[in-house]
Amino acid sequence: MTDRCLLAVESSCDDTSAAVLRGESELLGHIIATQDMHAEYGGVVPEVASRAQLRVIDGVVSTALAEADMTLAAIDEFAVTAGPGLIGSLLVGLNWVKGAAYARRRPLVGVHHMEAHLFATTLEDERAQPPFVALLVSGGHTLLLHVEEWGRYHLLGQTRDDAAGEAFDKVARLMGLGYPGGPAIERMARDGDATRHPFPVPMIRGDSGPDDDDYYDMSFSGLKTAVLLRVRELEESGRLEEEIPHLAAAFQQAALGQLVEKTLRAVQASGCQRVVLGGGVARNRALADGLGGRLGPKVTLFVPSPRLATDNAAMVARAARFHLDRGERADLELNARADLPMPGIVRNGASP
Ligand code: KG4
Ligand code: ZN
Repeated sequence: MTDRCLLAVESSCDDTSAAVLRGESELLGHIIATQDMHAEYGGVVPEVASRAQLRVIDGVVSTALAEADMTLAAIDEFAVTAGPGLIGSLLVGLNWVKGAAYARRRPLVGVHHMEAHLFATTLEDERAQPPFVALLVSGGHTLLLHVEEWGRYHLLGQTRDDAAGEAFDKVARLMGLGYPGGPAIERMARDGDATRHPFPVPMIRGDSGPDDDDYYDMSFSGLKTAVLLRVRELEESGRLEEEIPHLAAAFQQAALGQLVEKTLRAVQASGCQRVVLGGGVARNRALADGLGGRLGPKVTLFVPSPRLATDNAAMVARAARFHLDRGERADLELNARADLPMPGIVRNGASP
């Protein structure tokens, strides 16, 4: 096993993060700087996010190096998120790392952001290895995968409209709960009674089977509209404020119910005995509890700690370790792509 030291940077959205990883799982330094000014605008403003990335990137990398008690000269390999994400934000991290790798004449690799989310749990628990079913739920993506082996990802289902985290953010905004919406809704929902606003769980037909298009796919926009209509009704009758916790609980129950149901279908069809969660929505305790309660004793659920569930460079470093060990190297042509396709995605058993 290698004991090389890798420096990774993640800057795909509104967090700037750097990590120093030795070998496969020894995290020597890890810094995450979160931008809080987006709360003011109720969401991430891309231009504001990329300028903020530029302001903090030097400091974030040097603090991670200091935490690892290292200098840039001691870094053996470099990695950076190359996409998907906000192009202006991605470019800040990418150019920083490209410059450093070139100056130090060291290997460089670009990492796909969602593949990095897939690797996060292995940093905390070595048993989180393929084969497993993965549910990746973030602000930009919702993916249900059957991971046979690292680097080979069967895409079972994905959202047809909004991502899961995006739905939490939009619904929170409708209810005036601020940004980011996920944690706010989860907090509110604890005091709520979901049965007061029974929203149907989306995309669940009792008579559908694995060969049907909608068996694994997900959707959140109909649920969001249902919440919007209920918010307007309650506003008109002057009862919105008192109903907010109940609305939050009802939305959360329907949204998470869909994620749980689709994941259970994937577990059943694949016969996998491990399930791995990833992405910001994986911070939601009700999701982990709801899924854990339904999986049965033979299936182990791996949930990343909150710090490794949301965007961070440690997961980028861990995914990069895998690609570097396979001999992959990027050259100076490496560029950021807002819509970078996930490497190794396989649909219906065939490579794309
Ligand atoms: O993975 P992530 O940090 O960034 C992206 O790659 O998008 O995910 C951020 C998303 C946001 O939409 C946020 O509202 C959601 O994760 N989130 C949550 C919770 N904490 C963060 N959603 C539901 N419940 C939470 N506790
Ligand atoms: Zn993410």
